[in-house]
Amino acid sequence: MHFAALTVDPAFRVGEVDPRLYGSFVEHLGRCVYDGIHEPGHAEADEHGFRRDVAALTRELGVPIVRYPGGNFVSGYHWEDGIGPVAERPTRIDLAWRSIEPNHVGVDEFQRWAGSVGAESMMAVNLGTRGIDAARNLVEYCNHPSGTYWSDRRRANGAAEPHGIKVWCLGNEMDGPWQIGHKTALEYGRLAAEAGKAMRLVDPSIELVACGSSGRGMPTFGSWEATVLGETYDVADYVSLHAYYQERDGDRGSFLASAVDMDAFIEAVIATADHVRAAGRHRKRINLSFDEWNVWYQSDFAGEENLPIQRTPRLIEDVYSVTDAVVVGNLLISLLKHADRVRIGCQAQLVNVIGLIMTEPGGPAWRQSSYHPFALTSRHGRGTVLRTEPTGPTYETAVHGEVPVLDAVAVHGDEGVVLFAVNRDQERELTLDVDARSLPELAVAEHVTLADDDPDAVNTAAAPDRVAPRRLDPPKVDGGRVQAVLPPLSWNMIRLTR
Ligand code: AHR
Repeated sequence: MHFAALTVDPAFRVGEVDPRLYGSFVEHLGRCVYDGIHEPGHAEADEHGFRRDVAALTRELGVPIVRYPGGNFVSGYHWEDGIGPVAERPTRIDLAWRSIEPNHVGVDEFQRWAGSVGAESMMAVNLGTRGIDAARNLVEYCNHPSGTYWSDRRRANGAAEPHGIKVWCLGNEMDGPWQIGHKTALEYGRLAAEAGKAMRLVDPSIELVACGSSGRGMPTFGSWEATVLGETYDVADYVSLHAYYQERDGDRGSFLASAVDMDAFIEAVIATADHVRAAGRHRKRINLSFDEWNVWYQSDFAGEENLPIQRTPRLIEDVYSVTDAVVVGNLLISLLKHADRVRIGCQAQLVNVIGLIMTEPGGPAWRQSSYHPFALTSRHGRGTVLRTEPTGPTYETAVHGEVPVLDAVAVHGDEGVVLFAVNRDQERELTLDVDARSLPELAVAEHVTLADDDPDAVNTAAAPDRVAPRRLDPPKVDGGRVQAVLPPLSWNMIRLTR
């Protein structure tokens, strides 16, 4: 038998969960917007063309913030193309994904949709092909009440009240050579600082995210963050992180430990941001916005340069297995473990494109396997994060070295304590001893798991509920001690309540 142990104690406080940790991302890419959230003519479409079934799944998922409109897309985007009467909007070539962009959905439509699913918008501005003027005009369009050129254009377009968009991304992945308008750290840092300054002069209440590296493996990682924050420290509130993981060469053990890499990435960015703080004698701290993360089988993607220019292409529609869902659940554990500094997270992306939700045009919408750990963590992982100091077995991986079999975090909320835990062992159950004696009033336990005899099982339109969480026999609580058995290769939620 495999044994592990951990302690749940309200004294081991990490920080409060910012609900925006459970954000998602909608980009004008493939079928995320068109034939994803928006499909006029579909039996479920509302009067604005948005699918009610997709909106209902999004509400159930629980995403308090959604990043928009990109991604790489934003670096060539003219936001003005997406406002006003739809019939008069131009059709353009989107260079990021070599797609035809009809501009049927723009900032006003997206804002209305986000409100309908209980989310706030997190808006990115184009610092690839454009700059300070386009960015500050967009803030004026969205957030200024009235009586100016852009705010009155918004009002004329049907939005009498300001959209009040709080969080703004200063461009996207500007370190990436694939990015339209790719820049050096210094070029980007100066532009971001000046654009951010002007945007904040329009609306002093906004929060700004400076672009960090598009991955920990980028050759400029570390020095990029240091240079960019050196230029933007006064104006920025957050620095961004992006990470995508996949199983490579059949090495499932390494893939299951992807969160070890995410932990290291987060801790390296915190160290860099705090170095810039110390060197610049700054008082405030820069927090982290992990505004793109997921499992993505990038090696299956041919690359945008090889795509024909098409309208609404099926791009990057990965179908996720039980194993992928366990990794997604573990990545959420990593974000929670760093909740004191990671304040915003955006799973990428919401629908069809590496999506939690899949749709068929004219057909159904369904939950991918990875939808489930996300929805349960978002619903129950609210409150104060507690360190759990797990002990237990380890295993050797080719990519990350020796890693723990168990990864876990606890969240102390109104109803009690919720433990999120992953068993990375592919063959063996893990018996987990939980010491919760500091919370003797919590006497009832519930154990929900995502695990399957077939770790490659997936959900499809024909079998949309093939992979779903199931409730195990409730673990016994004995004088504040709980013992739970985690199935092999599983994500688990153990709730201790009164
Ligand atoms: O999420 C897909 C793409 O991944 C985004 O457009 C880009 O920012 C990242 O490289």
